[in-house]
Amino acid sequence: MLPASLLGLVAIFLSSGAAAQSVSVLQSSLSAGGVSALYPTDKNFSTVTKAFNERFTIVPLAVAFPTNAQQVAAAVKAGTAQKMEVAARSGGHSYIANGFGRNGSLVIDLSKMKGISIRSSNNTALIETGNRLGDIALALNAAGRALPHGTCSYVGIGGHSGMGGFGFTSRAWGLTLDTIKSATVVLANGTIVTASNTSNTDIFWAIRGASPSIGIVTSIEVQTFPAPASATVFQYGWDSLTISAASNAISSFQTFAASNIPQEFGAELVFSAGPSTSHVALGLTGAYYGTGDYKTILAPYLNTLSAPSWSTISPGSYINSVSVLAGQPLNTSTAPEDPDTFYAKSLMTPSGSPMSAAAITAFVTYMTKQGFTFGQSWFVEVELYGGSNSAINKVALDATAFSKRDTLFTIQMYASSPSFAPPYPASGFTFLDGMASSIVSNSPSNWSYGYAVNSIHRVLTDVSFSAYLNYADDRLTNASTLYYGSHLPRLQSIKAAVDPQDTFRMPTGV
Ligand SMILES: Cc1cc2nc3c(=O)[nH]c(=O)nc-3n(C[C@H](O)[C@H](O)[C@H](O)COP(=O)(O)OP(=O)(O)OC[C@H]3O[C@@H](n4cnc5c(N)ncnc54)[C@H](O)[C@@H]3O)c2cc1C
Ligand SMILES: *[C@@H]1O[C@H](CO)[C@@H](O)[C@H](O)[C@H]1NC(C)=O
Ligand SMILES: *[C@@H]1O[C@H](CO)[C@@H](O)[C@H](O)[C@H]1NC(C)=O
Ligand SMILES: *[C@@H]1O[C@H](CO)[C@@H](O)[C@H](O)[C@H]1NC(C)=O
Ligand SMILES: *[C@@H]1O[C@H](CO)[C@@H](O)[C@H](O)[C@H]1NC(C)=O
Ligand SMILES: *[C@@H]1O[C@H](CO)[C@@H](O)[C@H](O)[C@H]1NC(C)=O
Ligand SMILES: *[C@@H]1O[C@H](CO)[C@@H](O)[C@H](O)[C@H]1NC(C)=O
Ligand SMILES: *[C@@H]1O[C@H](CO)[C@@H](O)[C@H](O)[C@H]1NC(C)=O
Ligand SMILES: *[C@@H]1O[C@H](CO)[C@@H](O)[C@H](O)[C@H]1NC(C)=O
Repeated sequence: MLPASLLGLVAIFLSSGAAAQSVSVLQSSLSAGGVSALYPTDKNFSTVTKAFNERFTIVPLAVAFPTNAQQVAAAVKAGTAQKMEVAARSGGHSYIANGFGRNGSLVIDLSKMKGISIRSSNNTALIETGNRLGDIALALNAAGRALPHGTCSYVGIGGHSGMGGFGFTSRAWGLTLDTIKSATVVLANGTIVTASNTSNTDIFWAIRGASPSIGIVTSIEVQTFPAPASATVFQYGWDSLTISAASNAISSFQTFAASNIPQEFGAELVFSAGPSTSHVALGLTGAYYGTGDYKTILAPYLNTLSAPSWSTISPGSYINSVSVLAGQPLNTSTAPEDPDTFYAKSLMTPSGSPMSAAAITAFVTYMTKQGFTFGQSWFVEVELYGGSNSAINKVALDATAFSKRDTLFTIQMYASSPSFAPPYPASGFTFLDGMASSIVSNSPSNWSYGYAVNSIHRVLTDVSFSAYLNYADDRLTNASTLYYGSHLPRLQSIKAAVDPQDTFRMPTGV
């Protein structure tokens, strides 16, 4: 840390307002609240402000490291006293570095808040939001319990549970946010509230789908599930599929989803560049957590495809399945994770209006042609949210702020820079925008996804569908409508009540 005399020389003037934000004043208020922090001139500052997606360079005014909710509240007040923007950072895995706010923000880094307490009396767990998914899975598993969540160990529970949280157990148990029974939330004015079904109900509703815009959730109380007695991860690969074979793989996946597949079955298709033009590589990855043989369930789908080039079947314990799917250490203190430099988009397809043959063919043709010549690493995941029996879609649309309870597929499109390091070439944006456009421009006009593609403008007639907020995209037109759908007006009204100064501001906010 710098001596106060030197810090006093550093004042940042935001272009938006006349207020000068003095680092020395901030430093005194944070110290008065007992909160440790790092400032731009500190040795480790560049390390703690490095984004997972290195396409983004954001320089906050300070990064605070509170150890409890009271310190979070003190830090928020220290920021708002100077009209600063404040952003929470949990695992730092936002696709667009939203955990750092914007240049000049105060970052509340939750990495010193990693408590997990498991209550066997009512099968809940109290989880502080500095935890990451791999560590949570390990801790719960040690008590024979589990939670639905995504596959990457290093993703933080803060962002993940605030905006969704999809993994292969989600068809059985819902999204991560569906498991939240109550939460402790620090509001913009520094008040600490408990939000639940019976207390601060508007806030409770809003933090399950839009938490970054509402407050800083310091802990969540979640419903846990018995860790399944066994689990099998299955991975199949087709090294080179023609346009018609790959189109068939998607359309028959839609048909398969509509058949009576059990909740305990989760899967996704993963496309990547093929070995020659007009061809694409396909992977099928999933897991089965039920009893009996997963092959009986999967056979009707596999029978519609050619023989795979390879397969890897990993039967074992539940925690083994979490580990295999992660493909990285579950204990995130054992090694740091490599960053990437990328752009990603998402589209969520409505169950009631599956992708047409024209949309599928255009999409696959794009992946086989532009995808072959593109020359940078890319992949597309077609994640099965819906289909028969999905717990995600059993939750009533208005029960939480999550705006999409009728999704069949969440399609994620992802392209890295050539070296996986900056700079990110314009060709990457063009490639993915064009890919999303191949689907949208061949789909019914009442799909609102038209706004997901900058080059396409069409009349939005149905706002109940959206893109997935956890795959945040900084290039969307009308992002708030796409992300929050029909919940946007209620979210804006709650936001106006609890955060009138827009202290918790971000490009993908409400
Ligand atoms: C490698 C990788 C794999 C992924 N896999 C999956 C997957 O399988 N399934 C899936 O659903 N998603 C997945 N995601 C997306 C992931 O869920 C989101 O990026 C998530 O928001 C990251 O959360 P975080 O806490 O790590 O991020 P952060 O960058 O720390 O935060 C993300 C946003 O949430 C806000 N925030 C963080 N903590 C809090 C808090 N306590 N209170 C209020 N706001 C908060 C931040 O301000 C920011 O706006 C993946 C992402 C990556 C990078
Ligand atoms: C800086 O980082 C190093 C290595 O992670 C750590 O040992 C040290 O305590 C950090 N210093 C501060 C001031 O946080
Ligand atoms: C934030 O600051 C960094 C470093 O100065 C700069 O590269 C970046 O462009 C700035 N971002 C914005 C949005 O101005
Ligand atoms: C679960 O039990 C703990 C104490 O063991 C209690 O604090 C908590 O309120 C209970 N939660 C619910 C949802 O009943
Ligand atoms: C992760 O590893 C660290 C260091 O080895 C250890 O202290 C910690 O208990 C482990 N965490 C879990 C959840 O196993
Ligand atoms: C909230 O209460 C309603 C009605 O009692 C119930 O259906 C719902 O499951 C509860 N939600 C949570 C998260 O506890
Ligand atoms: C779009 O409109 C058609 C025809 O009116 C309807 O069948 C379909 O369900 C709608 N799709 C969506 C996504 O609303
Ligand atoms: C954004 O969506 C709203 C709601 O459907 C619509 O009225 C508005 O025209 C859209 N704005 C832009 C810029 O596309
Ligand atoms: C802080 O904001 C909340 C939500 O708007 C409000 O209920 C509470 O009274 C405020 N507290 C103070 C001290 O202003």
